[in-house]
Amino acid sequence: MIKGNNIVTGVGSYLPERVVTNDELARKIDTSDEWIKERSGIRQRHIAAEGEYTSDLGVAAARRAIEDANMSVNDLDLIIVATTTPDLTFPSTASIIQEKLEMRHGAAFDIQAVCSGFIYALHIADSMLRAGPYKNALVIGAETFSRILDWEDRSTCVLFGDGAGAMVLSTANDSDSGIIANFIRSDGRYCDLLYVDGGPSRTQSVGHVRMVGNQVFRRAVKDIAIAMKECAAIAGIEPKDIDWFVPHQANQRILDGVGRQLGLTSEQIISTVAHHANTSAASVPLAFDVAMRDGRIKRGDLVMLEAFGGGFTWGATLLRF
Ligand code: ACO
Repeated sequence: MIKGNNIVTGVGSYLPERVVTNDELARKIDTSDEWIKERSGIRQRHIAAEGEYTSDLGVAAARRAIEDANMSVNDLDLIIVATTTPDLTFPSTASIIQEKLEMRHGAAFDIQAVCSGFIYALHIADSMLRAGPYKNALVIGAETFSRILDWEDRSTCVLFGDGAGAMVLSTANDSDSGIIANFIRSDGRYCDLLYVDGGPSRTQSVGHVRMVGNQVFRRAVKDIAIAMKECAAIAGIEPKDIDWFVPHQANQRILDGVGRQLGLTSEQIISTVAHHANTSAASVPLAFDVAMRDGRIKRGDLVMLEAFGGGFTWGATLLRF
């Protein structure tokens, strides 16, 4: 058995109530259910209600993860939130979530690596738990991505949705489970292929998502496969040796392409892209939670998480659940 240190003690997720189907979008913009399904695998997405913020989604997912860990807020000492759609420019969404959870101790901060945010946040939490003195970190990926979409740009607005996922990561000595390997990368040369055209310093506005989808697609398949191989190599295994692959849910064709390159079966790949669309930093913990609660991912299973996003940023995490 491969040894791990910090273990995932709880998982939870939350999706806003409102579901928007492809057909509903096709009534407003020049697209079709057939095009969206064929090119991306997406059938529907959840969209946050007016007055429902990223912190609200994050809190709901966090409460479920804390309950799943059999803990209370008092047991936590760290909150890390991965988001590209913070409630406000500042304070951090993590600070707002800390307040909503009535947590009166510990530290809370946001990290920004777009769709790879949860993988980056897990790596940071894992490192901080190893360094001490922290014992239980709440790691959240939460997004209201619908708020930064240009709803007249059919090449982007059909691809994204809102949601949140969370994990509690805890120190554990002599555990056979836990995080085995982390791998993160970025390459700033590709900023122009996937970005938001606004921000506090440059435009004093929030801006909208812009993406050259087909070029992002090609890089994503290649870099995700490399990240998974690097992560597996750290642990001395082959990617196909894992029980489950929990990828960032951007496009079913990306998942199939990566699966083919690495010799994974379609049964090993957890896919929620049809129902959630791309929820950016929330997509990996959301998919993990779905597969844990429906009984596929079980304690003791070897799981590879992976993400790719704006920056470009990408990475993978190997863990024994
Ligand atoms: N409905 C109908 N037609 C459309 C739509 C739409 N919603 N959107 C684009 N089209 C048209 C285009 O205009 C184009 O028409 P043309 O051939 O007449 O010019 C045609 O469809 C093909 O467009 P492509 O962009 O080449 O289509 P592609 O097969 O590449 O699929 C997609 C597009 C789904 C965006 C795909 O490229 C993709 O998934 N890319 C990767 C996305 C990703 O992984 N992003 C990273 C994470 S996101 C983040 O970090 C924020």
